[in-house]
Amino acid sequence: MAELHPDNPYAKDRFADPAKSVEFPPEAKKKFDYILTRYPSKEAALLPTLHLVQETWGWISPEAVHYVSSLLDLSPANVFGVVSFYNMYNQKPVGKYHLQVCTNLSCMIRNAYDIYDDLCDKLKIEPGQTTPDGLFTVTEVECLGSCGTAPVVQVNNDYHEEMDVQKMESLLEKLK
Ligand code: FES
Repeated sequence: MAELHPDNPYAKDRFADPAKSVEFPPEAKKKFDYILTRYPSKEAALLPTLHLVQETWGWISPEAVHYVSSLLDLSPANVFGVVSFYNMYNQKPVGKYHLQVCTNLSCMIRNAYDIYDDLCDKLKIEPGQTTPDGLFTVTEVECLGSCGTAPVVQVNNDYHEEMDVQKMESLLEKLK
């Protein structure tokens, strides 16, 4: 059978490997215990727990979805539904620096695609791919909610506003 695209809901990569399981390392477990004290129910702690998963492993693997579901007494489908709803949760491994270029209207009319195309050219990768050294992933994203300072590129958790090709290239050099 032909391999399905990894974004397809039935792609093999989206199912947990029964031979694999994950568990928070002690430092992250302490943070998780603290998160639980801040919310009225386990379910309410889902979003911050997923952020903690991402902070710990860089992405939210199918195994992590099962782990979170057991921690919070939720079904894996419930957790996965939330993970797949928000694009701030990475459903695939990303590079050390995740370069998310907004190409929505305000950014697009201020040349966001020039930045996006130039990044892919300079890094010699296709959109959505990670460089072979694991340093950079380039992704196209919808509105980042900072249209007044378009075009915007989000690098991990930081916004870089009023960007242009030159500014992006010098930022890239600093990150290398
Ligand atoms: S359109 Fe890019 S931040 Fe809103």
